[in-house]
Amino acid sequence: MRSNGTALVSGVEDLLHRAAERLDSAEPGDAVGPLQVGVDLGTASCVLTVLAGPDDDLRPVWVGRESSGALRDGVVVDFARAAATIGRLKQAAEDALGVTLEATATAYPPCVPLADARACRFVCEAAGFDRVDLVDEVTAAQRTLQVVDGVVVDVGGGSTGVGVFRRGELVALDDRPGGGHHLDLVLAGALGLSLSDAEAHKRTHPRQSLPILVPGLQRIAENVRALTVEAADLPLHLAGGALMIDGAGAVLSTYLERTVVTYPHALLITPLGIARSAS
Ligand SMILES: Nc1ncnc2c1ncn2[C@@H]1O[C@H](COP(=O)(O)OP(=O)(O)OP(=O)(O)O)[C@@H](O)[C@H]1O
Ligand SMILES: [Mg+2]
Repeated sequence: MRSNGTALVSGVEDLLHRAAERLDSAEPGDAVGPLQVGVDLGTASCVLTVLAGPDDDLRPVWVGRESSGALRDGVVVDFARAAATIGRLKQAAEDALGVTLEATATAYPPCVPLADARACRFVCEAAGFDRVDLVDEVTAAQRTLQVVDGVVVDVGGGSTGVGVFRRGELVALDDRPGGGHHLDLVLAGALGLSLSDAEAHKRTHPRQSLPILVPGLQRIAENVRALTVEAADLPLHLAGGALMIDGAGAVLSTYLERTVVTYPHALLITPLGIARSAS
């Protein structure tokens, strides 16, 4: 497994660190230069990201997150709640930055029916955006990671999306259920905890949790194997929050006998890439 190495990866890591700092602090950055907005409608949480500046000097100036409970496996199941969540995040960003945000990009899980993808656009329009660009989540993640030859694996709260990139082109895209929520179910069952206590325990006690979660992680690995039979030669780049538990990348790497590249703050990879997809 490797966690860094090339100048490109360290540039990506730097962007992720700066986005994470913005998420943790209430302080906005200067909304100077062209702005790009991204809305990630996630099962675990919705993230609104505002980037400022040109492509070679991107600055995350505002990153906000809220759990909506309005999505299941990446698909909007409560439209009004999702729109209200994004409306609140939009308002908070506008108040902090002192600008009106008119356009955004948003993303849908790979391979969902067109109607579900369109629902993501309608949520953003109902939240007050005039113009909405649509992109699939794996392509968005690749936009952050700039993977040329490799597999982008986005394991979120509810699903595992996989995109195979060769010479920078997306050549295969697929997804399967399975994410952090499923790991919580395993932990809750093993330790006799409620789901929300299991989620908290996973974050506060990663070392004790990891051995219990190994079979669940291997199951995610099996999904990745099945989705990448034509791309067994390529390294795996891990995005999404579910594999942020320390040691998860090594479990996948050992089990699949493949090179795995991990990133800090991996759950911000897709939200940043969505914002970069805004026209
Ligand atoms: N530090 C951490 N350690 C372990 N797991 C984590 C950590 N941080 C987040 N997670 C897990 O990541 C998951 C959320 O990841 P992410 O934000 O990528 O999902 P999402 O985009 O909301 O979901 P989806 O893409 O499936 O719709 C949750 O299940 C959570 O348990
Ligand atoms: Mg996601």
